[in-house]
Amino acid sequence: MGSKLIGYGSYLPERIMTNTDFEKIMDTSDEWIVQRTGMRERHFARDDETVTDMATIAAQRALDNAGITVDDIDLLIVATTSAELDFPSVAAQVMGRLGAKNNAPAFDVRGACSGYIYALHCARGFFTAGMHKRIMIIGAEKMSRMIDWSDRSTAVLFGDGAGALIFEHSSSSYSGIIDTVVMADGGEFDMLHGTPDHHIAMNGPETYKKAVTLIPAAANYIMEHAGITADNVDWIIPHQANLRIIQSGAQRLGFPLDKIIVTVDKHANTSGASGVLAIAYAFDHGLIKHGQLILYPAFGSGLTWGAALIRV
Ligand code: ACO
Repeated sequence: MGSKLIGYGSYLPERIMTNTDFEKIMDTSDEWIVQRTGMRERHFARDDETVTDMATIAAQRALDNAGITVDDIDLLIVATTSAELDFPSVAAQVMGRLGAKNNAPAFDVRGACSGYIYALHCARGFFTAGMHKRIMIIGAEKMSRMIDWSDRSTAVLFGDGAGALIFEHSSSSYSGIIDTVVMADGGEFDMLHGTPDHHIAMNGPETYKKAVTLIPAAANYIMEHAGITADNVDWIIPHQANLRIIQSGAQRLGFPLDKIIVTVDKHANTSGASGVLAIAYAFDHGLIKHGQLILYPAFGSGLTWGAALIRV
């Protein structure tokens, strides 16, 4: 039992924060941010706009794109680490907001920037077991809520937004979520974590070194596991943390740069929403086409890392 992608949707808050906007409030420059990260702008949610608000809009857009209603979904998994409330889950709230009447299960996963790969991993398992027919995955984050404004080395890196993907069960194992691998190493907790007062704390250079190793490692592992090579892959959509990490990973894997989807310049790092937003962006801009094979590696706090192979 496999799956196929039947719909996608995304939401980016209206407010755009450029590098020049940061220049006005802290000791930084457009030149430094572009050179070190590739980021030019990011979207920031309004003060009264929540993770659930953004996730609900992305979800409704994905349902409209698939031509189905919320009651056709029999499982919702939301990847988020920036939810305003400890409980209930964002997933349960989204089902309520969408007016679901079918009592379908809904839960959140917390895998930081790899969260959407963890969500896809769960979905693949449920499809393989034949337990669900239509699963929606949402990645939604309000990272701006967790910014430490006194730390210029992390403040400029993050953005807000939400993306949603809907998969339906299929008898083909060559479409939809074909394969996933996820890993964690809690021993590296100190490198990148949330603080008790809800801020981001990161050792940037150490995180960078790990990311440029673990992203290609996860990508290689999944290609080997699936019995394919880089030549079989149409696009690589890496977690959008830093353009230099993306380019270095692609180089190590032997991928030409024109096979990479890049959104980090426009969205910055939206953590658990990043890859899902990037798929929606790539469809909306006519870059990826149905039937193409996407290699989808990610890395984040935990440490967590992993990859998915998706035929869209
Ligand atoms: N503007 C200007 N200067 C800055 C800024 C800024 N915003 N931030 C740091 N600097 C300065 C530092 O103070 C330092 O100055 P010094 O040399 O006088 O001490 C200098 O720039 C170099 O600092 P580094 O931290 O060594 O810069 P680096 O080249 O490593 O880039 C960066 C920093 C962009 C954070 C990089 O390390 C990085 O991308 N790391 C990985 C981040 C990541 O991948 N996170 C992923 C997961 S996120 C998640 O899971 C939630």
